[in-house]
Amino acid sequence: MEVIVKETYEQVSQAAARVVARVLNAKPNAVLGLATGSTPLGLYQELIRMHKDEGLDFSQVTTFNLDEYVGLPKSHPQSYHYFMRENLLKHINIPKQNAYIPSGTTDNYEAFCAWYEQRIRDCGGIDLQVLGIGGDGHIAFNEPSSSLGSRTRIKTLARQTIEDNARFFNSPDEVPIYAITMGVGTILEAREIVLLANGEKKAQAVANALEGPITTMNTASALQLHRKAMCILDRPAAGKLKMLDYYEWIQAKMPNAP
Ligand code: GLP
Repeated sequence: MEVIVKETYEQVSQAAARVVARVLNAKPNAVLGLATGSTPLGLYQELIRMHKDEGLDFSQVTTFNLDEYVGLPKSHPQSYHYFMRENLLKHINIPKQNAYIPSGTTDNYEAFCAWYEQRIRDCGGIDLQVLGIGGDGHIAFNEPSSSLGSRTRIKTLARQTIEDNARFFNSPDEVPIYAITMGVGTILEAREIVLLANGEKKAQAVANALEGPITTMNTASALQLHRKAMCILDRPAAGKLKMLDYYEWIQAKMPNAP
C-alpha cells in the first residue's frame, strides 16, 4: 500500500481532495465511494471549496455511501443520510438521484442489500473509494470478525464502536446496534482506494492495518490485498508504523505524490 504522511489533518484533507480531483478530471462521470465520520469532513470541505472556487464539477458523478444506521430515518441528525446532505451533497452540483446511501428504514433489508450491490455494478463499479478507519480497525461497519469476502449486509456493531460513536448521541443507549454496510469484498472491488486517518487514537489500528497480518480482526488489513490502495495519514496517526522512515523516503522520491 502506498503510504503518504502529512504534518496536519488539513494537509491530509487537501491531499485526499487532490486524489478525488485527479479521478474526476480523468473521468468526469466517475463513481465515488464515500464515507462518513469525522475523518472525511476536511476532505468534503476541501471538495466544496474546489467546486466553488475552481469549478470542480460533480454534475456527472455518482456516489455510493458505505453504510447507514439501521432504524434512523433520513431526517435524523445522526443518520448518515443527514450527514452526507449537510456536509457535502447540498453544497455541490451532484444530481440528487446520483447519490446513493444505504437505507436505514427499508422493510426488506435482504432485498435492499442485493439491490445496492446490483446498483453499484450497473453504474460500472466504484472508481475511487474513500475510507476512514474505526478504532478497532473496521472499515465501513465491518467490525472485527467480519468476513473479508463479505458483501452489503446488516452488521451488529461492536461494543467499542457503540462507545466511540456515543459522543454524537445524547446517551450510549440511543446509538443504534445494527448498521447496513458494504462488505469488505464489496469495498475491495473498487478500482482505487484511499484510506484516511488522523490523530493518535487511530495509530494502533493503522499500524495493524498496514503492517500487521491480514486478518478479520482488523478488516482494514484486507486493503493489503488491493492493487491500488493508498493511505494518507497525519503524523500522530502514523506514530506506530515501524516502516515510517521507508514510507517517507519513498514519498520524497514520488513526483506525483498527492
Ligand atoms: C464509523 C463509520 C466508518 C468510519 C468510522 C471512524 O464507524 N462507519 O466508516 O471510518 O466511524 O469514524 P471517525 O472518522 O469519526 O473516527
